[in-house]
Amino acid sequence: LLSACLIRQGCDASILLDDTITLQGEKKAPINVDALKGFRIIDRIKNKLESECPGIVSCADILTIAARDAVILVGGPYWDVPVGRKDSKTAGYALTSTNLPTSDAGLLSIISKFLYQGLSITDMVALSGAHTIGMARCVNFRARIYGDFEATSGMNPISETHLTNLKSVCPAAGGEDNNETAMDYVTPNLFDNSFYQILLKGEGLLNSDQELYSSLFGIETKKLVQKYAENQIAFFQQFSDSMVKLGNITNPDTYVNGEVRKNCRF
Ligand code: HEM
Repeated sequence: LLSACLIRQGCDASILLDDTITLQGEKKAPINVDALKGFRIIDRIKNKLESECPGIVSCADILTIAARDAVILVGGPYWDVPVGRKDSKTAGYALTSTNLPTSDAGLLSIISKFLYQGLSITDMVALSGAHTIGMARCVNFRARIYGDFEATSGMNPISETHLTNLKSVCPAAGGEDNNETAMDYVTPNLFDNSFYQILLKGEGLLNSDQELYSSLFGIETKKLVQKYAENQIAFFQQFSDSMVKLGNITNPDTYVNGEVRKNCRF
């Protein structure tokens, strides 16, 4: 949903569009290619909806609801999803490289990308908690594990063992860019607050995640990481509120030029 909503200033399902002769989709942009999955599931949901209730539910609404349901299925909180989004007719290939934060980003750069979309620092820290599930590819954490991982994790024996495992998944040189590992190695398939506890130990997999706790500029973000590490209920509440905010970022262009696509890919 982050990719889906931040690229074009809005959750307009532009991310689902396939390339055509006249349209360059967002899927093949360097930051998204190999990273995004699940397009077939969205197609199946859309097919069912179109056969029961044609022309009503936009692909943008489907994406937002699916993100919520995926969170529930792995043990996370429920929230009501406001609906009525329209789908875009165009995509924003170029914006993928300006609007999306990258894994090597520093704190100030990530903060600015969230503020630009009307999301606060609290939203940013809470939404990053989504990394309690899911995988990252070697290319996105190599610099971190051969960089300051040891410094932030304080070289204790458990962290060192973990680091050795990470390095075997992701060798310093020579391909293997797409080898994956869980961002929350404690409970990889459970939506909980252990992501923040990992940051307290200095073992965040992505540089962008560890920055929330370890950056010199991160006084406010550090306090929030501590709070969510201690209090899962506070994390769940803020995550729900922030997901509604993220899902409500609209591309104003879709008010005039938007549609309800029949097929989410075109
Ligand atoms: C704060 C800025 C963020 C950065 C820099 C960031 C970066 C990344 C990166 C680099 C990956 C790994 C992708 C790969 O290696 O293929 C990833 C995965 C993921 N991110 Fe983020 N992310 C951010 C915020 C978010 C937010 C706000 C959400 C959702 C609300 C989110 C949800 C996810 C999920 C679910 C995955 C796992 C995908 C999978 O397993 O296939 N991320 N993120």
